[in-house]
This record gives sequence, structure tokens and C-alpha cells, in this order.
Amino acid sequence: MKDPEMLSFIQGLPKTELHLHIEGSFEPELMFKIAKRNNIEIKYANVDEIKQAYSFNNLQEFLDIYYAGASVLLTEQDFYDLTWAYLTKVHEQNVKHVEIFFDPQTHTDRNVPFEFVLNGIYNALEDGQKQLGISFRLIMSFLRHLDEASAFKTLEQALPHKDKIVAVGLDSSEVGNPPSKFQRVFEKALNEGFLTVAHAGEEGPSEYIWEALDLLKVTRIDHGNRCLDDADLVKRLVDQQTPLTLCPLSNLELKVIQDLKEYALPTMMEHNLLVTINSDDPAYFGGYMNENFWGITKALNLSKVQIAELAKNGFKASWLSEQEKQEFLEQIDLYLKNN
Ligand code: ADE
Ligand code: ZN
Repeated sequence: MKDPEMLSFIQGLPKTELHLHIEGSFEPELMFKIAKRNNIEIKYANVDEIKQAYSFNNLQEFLDIYYAGASVLLTEQDFYDLTWAYLTKVHEQNVKHVEIFFDPQTHTDRNVPFEFVLNGIYNALEDGQKQLGISFRLIMSFLRHLDEASAFKTLEQALPHKDKIVAVGLDSSEVGNPPSKFQRVFEKALNEGFLTVAHAGEEGPSEYIWEALDLLKVTRIDHGNRCLDDADLVKRLVDQQTPLTLCPLSNLELKVIQDLKEYALPTMMEHNLLVTINSDDPAYFGGYMNENFWGITKALNLSKVQIAELAKNGFKASWLSEQEKQEFLEQIDLYLKNN
């Protein structure tokens, strides 16, 4: 198969994104613009300098730069602009539905009001639905390097906004911050009617995936690569068809893997794990949805049937209604037949 043909196949394929940190879609150009508008000095002279700084040996090195970048976001308009830029980008890539994370503590700890963050993001998502036809769900993530009390406080802030936030998640520095640290917070979130997800098995061990399933009652695992270390865990994930939201370019850039050629995706698909492809923090890891699909396609020599299967998995793993899922699955089958 020729490269241009495959690229065009990926471009035209209807897609959903289920693992995206909105703060991770903050492109350097917009970062400069917003910093200037807010009279904030940033330590880089220009966009090229920023891009050069984006070189990471592990998750923590990335997170330090990611939180520094997010610190120029102050107003509701800033959060609107950030989200709108993401939506216009993925619209160009034929993404039809997004379920995205935001990290309120990154901002409320700097005295940015919770409502500025939420309303800016949410208003852009609503405009995206109306103007670009992209449906959405919003997930509020707790920063796991912070303590339980801070997560409880954040959950309290979310309670008046259950109409806007459908789920809670768990992100940031994984190793040393197991899901069990947030068991009581997630129990309250579940009692309040939120769905739950958690990053687990990105850098942390497979035990963290068990904890996310058993203690946090998650409906999806974010990343989850390390599940392959434990055959019983793989069986559990397969039996329950618990989705894994994989992020290939993120794993590559954070040195979770050394080369996309060694990405265990084919093994996961052979096991019948419900794996999905996502971008995580596209402004930092060199690509949005299509670049992630293209990266694995090229490295693993995937066929159109396999790529379509991955796109279908995204819709199956989403929180769309059964009827909406069915419509997208049929669209993809038809697309595959005609291409
Ligand atoms: N926050 C943003 N990106 C993340 C990742 N890949 N893992 C954990 N926390 C994150
Ligand atoms: Zn993530």
C-alpha cells in the first residue's frame, strides 16, 4: 500500500478521541499570544525555543513543562480559545466525537476560579457541537501527585456542574501515587453519579490497573500498556471489554517505548483487548489523531481493516448512546467497503 493512499484513508476515516488533556493541546503559537495578552513573561524567546525544550526522558520531565505552559491561562476566554483551537484542528482530521480531560487543580491552585476554567472549555465544546458537528463529553481529572483533601475539594467544586461534567479521571505523576490513594474520593464521585476513568499502567505497574478496576470502578483505563505483564489481568480486561485508551506518540516521546515498531498493539489486538488510539497531549508529542494513526500504521504495517477496527473500537469505547455508536460503526464499515 502506498503512503499517500493510507494517509488519505486515515484522514477520511470517522474518528473519536477519548484520551486528550485539553492543556496538552496548547500549541506554542497560542501560548505566546495568550501570555502576551495576559502580560506574562515566558522564559522562551520564540516558538522554536519552546519546541526545542520539548524533549523528555520520562513522564515527570514532560509534566514539569506542561504545568509551566498551562500557567499562562488565566481568563475564561483563554480556556475558550485553547479548546476552540483543539476542536478546529481535530475537525480538519475528521474527528466526530471527543471525550476530553481538564485538570482544574492546575489552575485553581493558581487562584484561577473553577468556573472560568469550566465555562471557557464548555462554551467552546458547545460551539464546536453547533458549528463543527463534534459531539463531546467532559471529564474532570484529579492530579494524583496532590493529596486526597485537594481532590475532595475539587469534587465539591464540580457538584453544581453535573450537567457539564460526566466523569472524573486521575492523571499526573503515576509511580508512587496509586489509585488506592483516591479510593474514597472516587467512591463519593460514583455515589454522586459520575462515571470514572483513571490513568494506570503508563509508567506504573499492572497492579495499578487492578486497583483502578477494583477500587475506582473505572469504565476505561487510560493507557494501560502494562496490562500485558499479567495474563490474569488481560483476561479480566478482555472478558469485561474494558477499553484501553492508548496514546502511541505519547508513549514514544515519554520513552515508555523506544520505537513504535515495538509497540505491543498487534499483541493487544490478537488478545481481543478493546484498544483505542488517541493523542494525549498533541501539542507536546508531535501529533493529533491522524499522526498517531499514521505513526502506528507505518511502524506496524497495519492494514486498512485493522485501522478501521481501531477507529470502530473508539466509538464502541465511547459514552455515546447505543444508537449513535451503531450509526458510526455502520459509517466506518461503509467507508472501508468504498475505500
Ligand atoms: N497529564 C497530561 N498528560 C499525562 C500523561 N500522559 N500521563 C499522566 N498525566 C498526564
Ligand atoms: Zn493522559
